[in-house]
Order: sequence, then structure tokens, then C-alpha cells
Amino acid sequence: VTEVPAVRLNDGRSVPQLGFGVYQIEPDDTERAVSRALEIGYRHIDAAQLYGNEEGVGRAIAASGLARDELFVTTKLDIERHGRDSAREALDESLERLGLEYVDLYLIHWPRPAEDRYVETWTGFEQIAATGRARSIGVSNFLVAHLERLAAETATVPAVNQVELHPWLPQQELRAYHRDRGIVTQAYSPLAQGELLAHPVIAGLAARHGRSPAQIVLAWHLGLGNVVFPKSVRPERMRENLDVLDITLADADVTALARLESGRRTGPHPDEV
Ligand SMILES: NC(=O)c1ccc[n+]([C@@H]2O[C@H](COP(=O)([O-])OP(=O)(O)OC[C@H]3O[C@@H](n4cnc5c(N)ncnc54)[C@H](OP(=O)(O)O)[C@@H]3O)[C@@H](O)[C@H]2O)c1
Repeated sequence: VTEVPAVRLNDGRSVPQLGFGVYQIEPDDTERAVSRALEIGYRHIDAAQLYGNEEGVGRAIAASGLARDELFVTTKLDIERHGRDSAREALDESLERLGLEYVDLYLIHWPRPAEDRYVETWTGFEQIAATGRARSIGVSNFLVAHLERLAAETATVPAVNQVELHPWLPQQELRAYHRDRGIVTQAYSPLAQGELLAHPVIAGLAARHGRSPAQIVLAWHLGLGNVVFPKSVRPERMRENLDVLDITLADADVTALARLESGRRTGPHPDEV
């Protein structure tokens, strides 16, 4: 098993820096995909209520024979279930589907500013953390303004903010804000859902390093300190995406990747969900 670095969270726990994401894996394929990922050596699984495949994740975990404390499992509150009690009930349902006593990390999936309940929901998350049903709590798709409201109106700084981030969308401002506040940056769609991999600059770096385009992009993330969990249903790509810990990019490589910034997103803007 590859030694994946652990990233320290502001609550004293830690998260494996490289994991496996299960968005857009069909429910019927999920057990097989997660089982392969665990065999290959992934120990961090990024799930969500919205993905509709927590049962498959749970079956793969149960079948793996791994001890619970060898795994880091994240799930996220369904966008329709904001609210203090609702957040707790939704987690209980997730735990049932996952077959787990606790998740390592529970995230507010989207802030839904138009609904304006994320502060109340966060107070529910604080209570959940106190019960141990989620060991760490965090948010996803939060902009600086949303994080500032949590800071002003609640007592707990999120352990992580999980946001879309890749060379097209490096999220400089958010990353600097996170760094100042002790929030770990989790980079979702780290490969821009695969769309970035044909870019000639990335292909050129891949050729020069003798590695694949995906490996170059993942090495860039790890070098920045981001936590990532690329998704693939193909075992050869699962292996490839985990086999990146030895890659060191030169400053010139990082500069070349920085020039790709275009603001392009593969998913929606957080204010629009
Ligand atoms: N919090 C949120 O709102 C949010 C939103 C989106 C994603 N996420 C999380 O982030 C995880 C990853 O993001 P993502 O799934 O959107 O996109 P991604 O990991 O950037 O890219 C996945 C796509 O790239 C392909 N791919 C993977 N490895 C590859 C490789 N080595 N070479 C070539 N192609 C490769 C996959 O195809 P194959 O499967 O066919 O290999 C898939 O089409 C998700 O699974 C989810 O856990 C969170």
C-alpha cells in the first residue's frame, strides 16, 4: 500500500491527502469500484447523500475486511436537507446506508445562500460533532462570504472547505483565506472531470516527466497542499492516480500550469445551486 501523507485538520484529526471520489458512479457499479479502489490501496472515500450510492460504498467497506480506523469516509448533507434537526436525521440515514457508526467527515454540500439556512445547519453540525457521529465537520462550495458568516455567528471553524479546483480554476483567493483561518482545502473535480487532460501544456509536462497528464495534475495539487480524490471506474486509472507521490514538479512546471487559469468551471457556481 502506497504511503499517502496525512494532512492535519484544525480539530486535531487528520485526513489522507489522496483519496477516491464516487460522484457519477452508478449505484450498481459502486460496490465493485470502491472494492477495487480499496484493494489498490485507497483509504479515503469521498461520498455524498446526493450521489445516491452510499449503500454500494458501505458494502465495499464491509467486504474489505479493513479495520474502521484504517479508513477515512466522508459524506455530505443533501442540498434539500438544510436545518438543524434535518442535518442530524440525514446523517443517521447515511450511517445506516454506509453500515457505519460514524463518518470521519460530514460536509454541508452546498451553502444554498438563497435558502439562507446554512448557519442554522452548521449549528446542527456542531452538535453532531459533539456526539461523535461525525468525527470532523466541514463545508463544501462555500465562498469567503459564507465562511465569514460562520465565523461571525458560530463557534466552530470548518475543518475543510471542499471546492472545485484545478489548473483552470486555482482558487487563489479562497486558498489564501483557508490558509489564514486553518481550513484545509479539498479540491474537487481535480482533473476538471478529465477535460483538462488533453491540454497541450499538460501533455508536454507529462511527456517531459514520463508520466500521464492526470499524474502531473495530481502532483500539482499535492504540491499545493490540496486534498484530492479523483474518480475513476477503471482500475488501471485508479492505480495511476494513486501512483503520484514520487512526482516533484519544478518551479517552471508550476508556473506553466499557473498560466492555464481561465476561471472555467465544470460544475455550477455556488451562488447558483
Ligand atoms: N462537493 C462537491 O460539490 C463535489 C462536486 C464534484 C465532485 N466532487 C467530488 O470530487 C470527486 C472527483 O471529482 P469528479 O469526479 O467530478 O472529477 P475528476 O476526478 O476531476 O475526473 C473524473 C473523470 O476523469 C476521468 N479520469 C479519472 N482518472 C483519469 C486518468 N488517470 N486519465 C484519464 N481520465 C481519468 C474519469 O473517467 P473514468 O471513470 O471513465 O476513468 C472521469 O470521467 C468526485 O467523485 C466527488 O467525490 C465533489
